[in-house]
Amino acid sequence: MIVNTELEQKGNLFPSKIINYKKDVDTLHFSTKNGVALQVTVVRDSVIRFRYSTTGKFENDFSYGVTIHASRGYSFLDVTEDETHYNITTSKLICKVEKQSLQVSLFDAIDNKLINEDEIGFHWEECYQHGGDIVKMSKTCQKSESFYGLGDKPVDVNLKGKRFENWATDSYAFGKNTDPIYKAIPFYTAIQDNKAYGIFFDNTFKTSFDFAQERRNVTSFWAQGGEMNYYFIYGPQMEDVVKNYTDLTGKPHALPPLWALGFHQCKWSYYPEANVKEVTNTFRDLKIPCDAIYLDIDYMDGFRCFTWDKNHFPDPKRMVKELEDDGFKTVVIIDPGIKIDLEYDVFKEALDQDYFCKRADGPYMKGKVWPGECYFPDYTKPEVREWWSGLFKELIEDIGVKGVWNDMNEPAVMDVPNKSFPDDVRHDYDGNPCSHRKAHNIYGTQMARATYHGLKKYAYPKRPFVITRSAYSGAQRYTSTWMGDNIASWEHLAIANNQAQRMAMSGFSFAGSDIGGFAEQPQGELFARWIQLGVFHAFCRVHSSGDHGAQEPWVFGEEITDIVRKFVELRYQLLPYLYTSFWKYINDGTPILKSLVLYDQEDIATHYRSDEFVYGEQILVCPIQEPNAKGRRMYIPRGKWYNFWTDELVEGGKEMWVDADLDSMPMFIKEGAVIPKYPVQQYVGEKKFDEITLDVYYKKGKESSKLYDDAHDGYDYKKGRFSLRTFKVTGKKKELIIQQHKRGEFNADYTKFNMVFHNLPFAITSIQIDNVEIKLENVNTAKTQAITIDKEFTELHLFGK
Ligand code: GLC
Repeated sequence: MIVNTELEQKGNLFPSKIINYKKDVDTLHFSTKNGVALQVTVVRDSVIRFRYSTTGKFENDFSYGVTIHASRGYSFLDVTEDETHYNITTSKLICKVEKQSLQVSLFDAIDNKLINEDEIGFHWEECYQHGGDIVKMSKTCQKSESFYGLGDKPVDVNLKGKRFENWATDSYAFGKNTDPIYKAIPFYTAIQDNKAYGIFFDNTFKTSFDFAQERRNVTSFWAQGGEMNYYFIYGPQMEDVVKNYTDLTGKPHALPPLWALGFHQCKWSYYPEANVKEVTNTFRDLKIPCDAIYLDIDYMDGFRCFTWDKNHFPDPKRMVKELEDDGFKTVVIIDPGIKIDLEYDVFKEALDQDYFCKRADGPYMKGKVWPGECYFPDYTKPEVREWWSGLFKELIEDIGVKGVWNDMNEPAVMDVPNKSFPDDVRHDYDGNPCSHRKAHNIYGTQMARATYHGLKKYAYPKRPFVITRSAYSGAQRYTSTWMGDNIASWEHLAIANNQAQRMAMSGFSFAGSDIGGFAEQPQGELFARWIQLGVFHAFCRVHSSGDHGAQEPWVFGEEITDIVRKFVELRYQLLPYLYTSFWKYINDGTPILKSLVLYDQEDIATHYRSDEFVYGEQILVCPIQEPNAKGRRMYIPRGKWYNFWTDELVEGGKEMWVDADLDSMPMFIKEGAVIPKYPVQQYVGEKKFDEITLDVYYKKGKESSKLYDDAHDGYDYKKGRFSLRTFKVTGKKKELIIQQHKRGEFNADYTKFNMVFHNLPFAITSIQIDNVEIKLENVNTAKTQAITIDKEFTELHLFGK
């Protein structure tokens, strides 16, 4: 029983015994003597949905979180009944529903071991103030159980012993443990006894999660309204839990254009045009790669969305084109607040068409944001989203802007204590009219969704790029995200690290922080360390409030500029690796960042690690999070890893000291990995190259790696014009064999691979490519040996002595 909720005095109510049971294909309907209904739906063998109603009637079954593309179907379903329980069996799970109490327990169908069980299970309080119920669920927490996920919470990776709320909140200069902040992602994964399961509580009201904080043996979650409606997702591997959750709430609809995975520079604000150009020119002069430049609110005319300040930007189309000719994509900010101004088209149109949110009794929802007093479109109405999408025509199709940045969409309102809309504001909620209590957490996602559709349409045949601040589960289908207004402090560097990992295991891999910190100003050392972390986040952007001075890579002196260049160059070299990881993410939901617990849950030493993570599948990274460091202690997960900088091989499963002066950071490559690298470019597509590098890290044994490629923009890849190469490495004492398998019809410009062999334990005496011996002159005989070969080889065989 959760005692510590707001309306505790009203008292908890509980289901009584089951008096009715009916099976309808994949859904089992139970009803109790006191009128509670429970629907148990088998979504997949490892995914079961639980839906409770206290009145016996369910609401219209509508979800913004769950995608229509979610996989459904199971291979096996059997329901039996004994004296005390109904037993629902799939090929992965056994779910028992207790007849007297409606309590649920879940077991692994293979070894019959308990995974998770209700403590009190479903209960509720009537909510006299608003109607409906505060719906609650409590589950038993095992001693060794740990918890992860929950979106952007700025805390250590493991959530055990903590309590959280999900209510999207504008949180300027939030701190460690501030809760809630910008996002509401009511999904967590738990691990106990090497079995991982997840719970997605698909309820957009304010939700709360208690991970054994109130009571050591209880985990609970509850919402201020709506239904107790959750999905139980079984692994037993944590990665499979995350993949299944991502399948349910959606993978990104398309790969990002490759440029969006490059480096982005932003500030509040670059203006006028000459200032923008000065920044972009300096990037090129100093040869620091960069693909995107951002225009914050000052590009607009009086902060009116979809307008330009013509004094500062007299000819946006020309400017955008010139930037593009120099390899810069322009990304502009668009906020939800529409300035109240009858001379302003967008405002007038929305007013005429009745697209703005209204208070319960009829007046418009008026609130102050950057432009002063504003009204706000109701993005939960399909018609409004459609109109909003249409507004991007000029920006994208005509002016040539390539990306849109949606901010303030919690929605944020200034000068009011709750920083947002009042509860009584009405929303359409796609034909399920409701108050802001229900629509608040989804507002930002629906805005980003409408923006995405606009960009998708007008950028066609190119791919859209959207970034949002607020998000609910499923937002990853449409947009990338950043963590909001952080601070230039060492603590925030660590928070950014944890948030990016946490977002990745919450199904949202396309995420990053404001590198260097948004509020206040970093010193050069902090900026350099943050860049080192940021280049390993899928979204990589420097941003700052601009109040405290400049934050471009060159403002901290030459030493820092050189370090930044070195790491941004590394990001650009590793683009094919990141792109391949992204492809895995959009294909099967594999998170791009893996906290060590997700990488190796069996090793319990990983359960409380927060700093180290695996980037993609084969690169281990651990940022330096303290000043004056010459290195740090870190945990190396099990297996063997090569120090990226020295090629030294280390055996994992232990903590160790790793050197890392300011121009370095701890980075390791998994043995046997084949890491693809591009030559350094100043921006994506700058160069056509004839060869790319494959760094091959010797392993005695086998390891497989992948390389995905396509045209880097457009949708041809969906029609088969991609190439997916698998490299199987087999290392023996005096031999190394690399077999390549290729799928897909895309043919990249490059024709050769420069194969670089790291740490071969033998000197090469002969080489065969597809069974034909080649001349050894080609082999560079330094410590790292390299040869250049045709990219279409099937088997490369090195022999040594
Ligand atoms: C908000 C955003 C920040 C942006 C600023 C001005 O604080 O989080 O990124 O620069 O608004 O638009």
